[in-house]
Amino acid sequence: MTSSPTDNKATNVVWHEASVNRDSRAHQRGHRSAILWFTGLSGAGKSTLANAVNEQLFQRGLATYVLDGDNVRHGLCKDLGFSDADREENIRRIGEVAKLFLDAGVITLTAFVSPFRADRERARALVEPGDFIEIHCAAELAVCEQRDPKGLYAKARAGVIKEFTGISSPYEAPESPELRVDTGGSLEENVAQVISHLEGQGLIAAG
Ligand code: ADX
Repeated sequence: MTSSPTDNKATNVVWHEASVNRDSRAHQRGHRSAILWFTGLSGAGKSTLANAVNEQLFQRGLATYVLDGDNVRHGLCKDLGFSDADREENIRRIGEVAKLFLDAGVITLTAFVSPFRADRERARALVEPGDFIEIHCAAELAVCEQRDPKGLYAKARAGVIKEFTGISSPYEAPESPELRVDTGGSLEENVAQVISHLEGQGLIAAG
């Protein structure tokens, strides 16, 4: 029988409850943790926005971390490609890692294409309602393709890269994300929109 990556292969393993927990960390640090899940096409500006938001949060003295697709794929997920199954496993791992960071009291920003709705919903379901803030970086495909910062769209159009999101692999846009940001426009406005959402949610103090 083949096993799916979500099967629990280890038996006789019990969950260990830590005495220092998420609540104690939040109390010590003076802020709650959350997952800010940035999703969108390649070139939509997910990493740029996540990093710019991260900078603002860091300057306010908050504990933050950015998990970025291009970086994570050099380590934790370097065994994965871009088939549907590999993307699913990529997002499953990131969801689990983000959940650990959440428990560690860190505001965690993830920047992954995460093209499939079901995969994002699975990541959301790992944590409590309110802990997962989905942010759709909604730049038009034409804009992303025109930017083509890594020259990948050109290669995808030429058929050199297969299964490229938006060209030869689907992107399922979020239907009701907590936030939709037009990342075809000004980065400054995008950052302000995210920060104001976090303030509105009481995650960070109004600055
Ligand atoms: S995901 O679909 O599994 O969420 P992830 O965000 O980790 O993707 O990686 C996407 C990045 O890998 C893109 O920003 C792009 O630079 C690069 N990439 C290489 N091949 C592909 C592909 N076939 N589809 C999408 N992105 C690709």
